[in-house]
Amino acid sequence: MTTVSPPSPGLQVRRVERRDLPAVHRIEQSVFPQPWPAGAFEQYIGRPGFLVADDGRVVGYIVADVVEAHGRPLGHVKDLAVRADRRREGIASGLLSRALDIMSGQASTAKLEVRAGNNGALDLYRRHGFSFRRRLSGYYADGEDALVLVRSL
Ligand SMILES: CC(C)(COP(=O)(O)OP(=O)(O)OC[C@H]1O[C@@H](n2cnc3c(N)ncnc32)[C@H](O)[C@@H]1OP(=O)(O)O)[C@@H](O)C(=O)NCCC(=O)NCCS
Repeated sequence: MTTVSPPSPGLQVRRVERRDLPAVHRIEQSVFPQPWPAGAFEQYIGRPGFLVADDGRVVGYIVADVVEAHGRPLGHVKDLAVRADRRREGIASGLLSRALDIMSGQASTAKLEVRAGNNGALDLYRRHGFSFRRRLSGYYADGEDALVLVRSL
């Protein structure tokens, strides 16, 4: 379905290990105005949808999980980031594809929230088949709206 750049040669997408957490959290802090606290990642260690992109060091990560919504399993992309110096190489795309593939074994729909003004992420998600579902007014702590996007798995 997607027509995005292939991930860089030598890049591996793999499950997170505990030793990756400092690097994951460093990226999180460098990228988001309201980063997750370091401890928030702990609960996802060992879950199939917590993945890093690694080319000898961690250059990006995704946290995706299957949650229960209205009595049915729902894939949820909770966090995704790539180091600022490694963007537009297909790294996020590789992480997202793998996470969607993993979740497709357990759920038939995936959703995520994205800042309404995050055009790069919106483009990425649209290219991976996500479409607009609804707007959450003032969802983020700084007052920005979130857009809820969904796609079939
Ligand atoms: C959004 C983000 C994860 C994208 O990571 P990335 O590795 O650069 O993305 P990819 O290289 O896989 O991009 C795949 C496609 O997504 C779209 N895209 C990604 N970043 C884009 C940008 N800044 N502007 C426009 N389109 C963009 C493009 O279609 C791109 O394909 P192309 O490079 O062939 O044009 C990265 O910019 C990031 O970490 N941003 C800060 C954190 C963030 O916003 N996370 C998402 C939270 S919901």
